[in-house]
Amino acid sequence: MNNEYIIKGGRPLVGEVSISGAKNAALGIIAASIMADEPVTIENLPCVSDVEVLVSTIEEIGAKVNWTDSHTVTINGSTIKNFCVENDYIRKIRASYYILGALLGKNHSVEVAFPGGCNIGSRPIDQHIKGFEALGAKVSIAHGMIQANAEDLVGNHIYFDVSSVGATINVMLAAVLAKGKTIMENVAKEPHVVDVANFLNSMGANIKGAGTDVIRINGVERLHGTDYSIIPDMIEAGTYMIAAAATKGDILIKNVIPKHLEAVSAKLAEIGCDIQEFDDSVRVIAKARLSHTHVKTLPYPGFPTDMQPQITTLLALSEGTSVVTESVFENRFKFVDELARMGATIKIEGNTAIIDGVNKFSGASMLAPDLRAGAALVIAGLAAEGVSEVGSIEFIERGYETFDEKLRSLGGEIKKIPADDEDEMRRFLLKAV
Ligand code: UD1
Repeated sequence: MNNEYIIKGGRPLVGEVSISGAKNAALGIIAASIMADEPVTIENLPCVSDVEVLVSTIEEIGAKVNWTDSHTVTINGSTIKNFCVENDYIRKIRASYYILGALLGKNHSVEVAFPGGCNIGSRPIDQHIKGFEALGAKVSIAHGMIQANAEDLVGNHIYFDVSSVGATINVMLAAVLAKGKTIMENVAKEPHVVDVANFLNSMGANIKGAGTDVIRINGVERLHGTDYSIIPDMIEAGTYMIAAAATKGDILIKNVIPKHLEAVSAKLAEIGCDIQEFDDSVRVIAKARLSHTHVKTLPYPGFPTDMQPQITTLLALSEGTSVVTESVFENRFKFVDELARMGATIKIEGNTAIIDGVNKFSGASMLAPDLRAGAALVIAGLAAEGVSEVGSIEFIERGYETFDEKLRSLGGEIKKIPADDEDEMRRFLLKAV
């Protein structure tokens, strides 16, 4: 059944919220876990649908999966017998391609359905293929499936043409079990890349340099069991930081690594928020209307593209003219049409949004076009005067654990209801007003 969020906006979000494990690290780590010959326990998994899909997929191909609780799973990949991965769900998520790297490393032969994920640009996988081929694999694509086979995987020197999170993690997975030394240059430096490398090292891999431009890997023969806890999700944290700023609220965001949030913290401070950093939490206070700025998305440690819709939404409510340049994905401004329904004044020219800040948004009915833009529309609804509806929330649930519950705990008036359920909506409005 399709659900939607109904929101009564205009209240500052105030209180404390705890951040879940990083989705994009979790996806790489789940795939990596099946490379070990022994059971692996992963803690601090976020309870989001992308994770559920990937875990059920590896279970379907023969891995033993045992959930201790909703955030902890033990995976035993030694029982996998099927190296062809295809189901309707796996086609919808991006990280399905990590099974390719993991099983190419482990089995030297694998076939996986072509990856899906959010429609935010063309999202080629040429760099993944280039990396696999450099290690000695033959890769072919036909009938919606990617096939990779290798007689022998042998380490090599690989220079990536673009900084790609997916290609860096994927080729790293395969190279860990390749013979000899692999040097990967111009790699992605995102914290989730480092987390996957740390996880692989905890299983006995020999990876050095993750978090810098060059990763060096000495291949090992096998990987053993481990017990590992995933880092906090910097994009979920950043989303609550913007929610505080947009609603003129005051939120203490707990269980974060403040260093990972610096690009967002710096921009929020620049436009007038009070940002207080602690060891593992950050507090965002916005008392008055914020001012304008320029933002350009870049690979880490630059401003994350996954925070672009949220900051664009915030700047649409801030004083003056702001400019946001999207330099990572070319099709990431689709949500701006939805924001326009609330009164936002944003002009798109190529990969640039020119934003004339308005004083307030008015509630409207909108559809989430993808995961992060969906979260941005929810923030817009919480900041707006009146009632908003955000549909297609299955996108949002791919990456935000209990989004509505966490927002309610901060005083947000938001509820998930079946789409078009007039009775539920009436009940919510009567209670909320
Ligand atoms: C990951 C994240 C996504 C985030 C993105 C950038 C996951 C599951 N998703 O996506 O949330 O928005 O990083 O931080 O972790 N590119 C190529 N060829 C390739 C691969 C990528 O040209 O083979 C280009 C892309 O078109 C894009 C840029 O490289 O312009 C970065 O993409 P990449 O880092 O690979 O994104 P994903 O791994 O798909």
